[in-house]
Amino acid sequence: MRLIFLGPPGVGKGTQAQRLSGRLRIPKISTGDILREAVEKKTELGVRARGYMESGGLVPDEVVVGIIRERIKEPDAAGGFILDGFPRTRPQAEALDRMLGDRNEGIDAVLDFKLSEMQLIERLSGRRSCPGCNAIYHVEFNPPRQMGRCDRCGEPLVQRKDDHPEPIRKRLEVYRAQTVPLIDYYQSRGRRLEIDGSGTPEEVFRKVTAAIDPIQ
Ligand code: AP5
Repeated sequence: MRLIFLGPPGVGKGTQAQRLSGRLRIPKISTGDILREAVEKKTELGVRARGYMESGGLVPDEVVVGIIRERIKEPDAAGGFILDGFPRTRPQAEALDRMLGDRNEGIDAVLDFKLSEMQLIERLSGRRSCPGCNAIYHVEFNPPRQMGRCDRCGEPLVQRKDDHPEPIRKRLEVYRAQTVPLIDYYQSRGRRLEIDGSGTPEEVFRKVTAAIDPIQ
């Protein structure tokens, strides 16, 4: 299956993509994770992306389109993938359609996650992430077993630089201006499935699997 996870920052796309990736045995491809790793390693891509990311803005389309073009050619993506956080603009969506079209492939479904702005801010402000394996935690809603340490790999957890009030405000604004138009884009192509992102991660996962079951 080829799936897109669409939705505002903090709605739980990454959390759900990680679970579904395990269930369907297809990779979760997160442009955010790929870019953060590049920033951490100070590669040419990371140096270019850092300022955009830390302020809450979007990295230029041609950069992220290039990342996805290469990543979906990897052998582990041959049987499908979950795109988490891509596309985020209309030019990215059109580039993806062309890329898949060249391979006679298409997107099976776009899961469009919804949550109130108050809950988004609550989730983002308490998030902690593992720089080692990209596992996602929340100080209150999904704490690690040992405070400040990743359950999976033991690395110290960090708070993302863009999970502070000013970048959060900017990310929500950028989402409304640049990504919300994709809802109509995929609705008009008959690919959009709306998911209520409220409830526990387990409850949301049940909604996700119920939504995609009929198209598997
Ligand atoms: P990216 O990493 O994609 O960030 P995002 O889209 O802002 O999404 P988040 O990772 O913040 O949220 P999420 O929905 O995945 O929520 P999560 O599951 O973590 O992008 C970062 C930056 O990279 C961008 O700002 C941009 O600069 C750049 N970038 C990336 N892609 C790009 C692109 N295509 N084009 C241009 N630039 C790009 O959950 C959040 C928190 O809530 C966690 O603490 C989690 O534990 C908790 N939580 C999750 N589910 C629940 C639940 N059901 N109940 C309670 N808590 C929950």
